[in-house]
Amino acid sequence: MEIYKDKNADIESRVSDLLSRMSDEEKVGQMLQVSYNTLSGEDYEKYKTLGVGSFLHVLGEECDEIREKAASTRLGIPPLLGIDAIHGHALRNGATVFPSQLAASCSFNRELIKEMGRVTAREVCADGLDWTFSPVLCIGRDLRWGRVDETFGEDSYVVGEMGKAIIEGYEDENLIISCAKHYIAYGEATGGRDAYDSEVTERKIREVFLPPFKKAVDAGCGSVMTAYGSIDAKPLTANKRLLREILKDELGFKGFVVTDWENVRSLVTNQHFAENLTDASRAAIEAGNDMSMNTHEFYECVLSLLKNKKIHMSLIDDAVRRILRVKFRLGLFDGKKRPEKSVIACEGHKKINHELARESIVLLKNDSALPLDGDTKTIAVIGPNADDVRALYGDWTYFSHPEPKRDVKPLGEYYTVLDGMREVFKKSRILYEKGCDIFGHENETDKAVKAAKKADVVICVLGDCLAQNGEYRDRADISLTPIQLELLKRLKGTQKKLIAVLVNCKPLCIQYLKENCDAVIEMFNGGDYGGLAAAELIAGRFNPSGKLTISFPRHSAQTPCYYNGYGGWHGGRYMDIDEGNVYDFGDGLSFSEYEYSNLRLSKKTVTENDVVEVSVDVKNNGAMDGKETVMLFVNDVVSSILTPVKELKAFEKVFIGAGEKKTVTLRLDVKDLALVTHGLKRVVEKGEFEIMVGSNTKKYIKDTLTVV
Ligand code: NOJ
Repeated sequence: MEIYKDKNADIESRVSDLLSRMSDEEKVGQMLQVSYNTLSGEDYEKYKTLGVGSFLHVLGEECDEIREKAASTRLGIPPLLGIDAIHGHALRNGATVFPSQLAASCSFNRELIKEMGRVTAREVCADGLDWTFSPVLCIGRDLRWGRVDETFGEDSYVVGEMGKAIIEGYEDENLIISCAKHYIAYGEATGGRDAYDSEVTERKIREVFLPPFKKAVDAGCGSVMTAYGSIDAKPLTANKRLLREILKDELGFKGFVVTDWENVRSLVTNQHFAENLTDASRAAIEAGNDMSMNTHEFYECVLSLLKNKKIHMSLIDDAVRRILRVKFRLGLFDGKKRPEKSVIACEGHKKINHELARESIVLLKNDSALPLDGDTKTIAVIGPNADDVRALYGDWTYFSHPEPKRDVKPLGEYYTVLDGMREVFKKSRILYEKGCDIFGHENETDKAVKAAKKADVVICVLGDCLAQNGEYRDRADISLTPIQLELLKRLKGTQKKLIAVLVNCKPLCIQYLKENCDAVIEMFNGGDYGGLAAAELIAGRFNPSGKLTISFPRHSAQTPCYYNGYGGWHGGRYMDIDEGNVYDFGDGLSFSEYEYSNLRLSKKTVTENDVVEVSVDVKNNGAMDGKETVMLFVNDVVSSILTPVKELKAFEKVFIGAGEKKTVTLRLDVKDLALVTHGLKRVVEKGEFEIMVGSNTKKYIKDTLTVV
């Protein structure tokens, strides 16, 4: 009896049975992932019939063909088809494009992030795929890095909470698996240089970078991707300590580990760690990688290692077991039922996307300029990003991947800010002028000024563009480009009410905007409904509730500028710029003022096994219903090693009606007050902790907690 074909047998028995029937070639085939998109015709035939474990960057109809070929191999093991569905299934033109991870994190709304995961899973699965290479659990601390847009911001706790929520959403209905990446400290590469060495210690990894991956593992994440780079000169791909000992053994990760793109080859070509691909393949497997993304020679190399007894069969078996387990779990052997294609960008999905766009957008400044009167006669909408869907979407859509496409037309519904303004301000006359492009190749600022002079209000939409966003796009200078500043200065000169909307992949230096605009709105890459949400915010159709999950420096050289650093800097500032950031983590206004009072702790003296309930009353003093994210920060007053001046330990987003007062209770597990010692132990030290509860890092009320 072929147990592996029996739907009713338990997964472990099916895996064991199948494994016992597999040849070396079939096993090693499972450990290879091949990029569909970059294969030549001949290679494509070869790999389709070879029985490789996975293909990536396949879409729709192509999936069926690949599956059919796999079904006709000796054991008929189905391939796992993977895609970068990073903010929605966005490599498929016409599918839902959500706000970027960074934008979405500003919603501080776990439920909506989970919905984003669910929607994406349905669309990915309906399109024939099984696996998304998401979420990114890197931490966005060095703003020069080109991939900050892919992070959930600068705070390890927020990254972990959002990561957990989206993984739960992706895997909730068992349609696809997710992939927590890039393991580990990839965003911390020295100088913000993508894929470069990170100078972090294991202690630091355990303090800052590991906790989000632990949450991902606990949430049942199906796969983890190994980062490109190295840590303290050891390539992650060959890092047995981090992959095998910590991720698999200590955290108990049961899924499989896939390398990033060509990591095995990179051990030879970029990192000069291995002499040849055979040594590189062995190092990668021994370290704990189960599947190689590309580097097709991996297949022959591993077979030769087996033949020459240079690698233990137990390592191969373990890797294949992990991959097969996922395939059985997803029902790929049992004629998987997929959602109808009609779910792709269906009305229900659009509604969730629109809601997320509204909750993600951040109002940074409002000098009584907003909401704008619905009867405003003439509005000038100006700026390079006012009507640019590519900038609106950001990276990881069909515009940029798998290969860049310039002129493709979006098949789905979307709103640039200009579209949104036309939709929302139907009674007003809307004048549009681009003014300039991001780099100043086009300079039509004269026309823009002319339009502004005719208007009652100017909406200027600035930011960055796709060419400044993503892999290979690290920036030494994160200022607004000079032409944009010039445009803004000229618009300011018209003395009209000036509202800036930012469409950008990550924080830029926007001090001029803060000082000179009447209102500033940050949407990052807002997805299909970003432009509509911006216009609705301007019109006051909803009460903004987004808050920054990342800080904005005054100057490029001020990065990193995250809020939860250690104390101890003489003077606390660079001598040639003012102190502090332009905007901090947690900043974000609403049309309501929230008043905090009556902070109380269920216990004031605790041991490390306690859980404390921290309650606070929050009153919405405004005339509009709203949602407020209540944040709880702690400070370990005296500690045996440096600890952050302030660190987020809990947050809740709550609805509070106009004029209403609500009690909000946050749960603080005393174990979460632990620091990581140089002996790599998590220890809650005795003594006092400051507990700060409020709207952001600056506006809070506080009490103390004593650990005995
Ligand atoms: C490289 C990127 O680093 C990774 O995030 C992505 O999932 C893979 N390529 C596949 O496209």
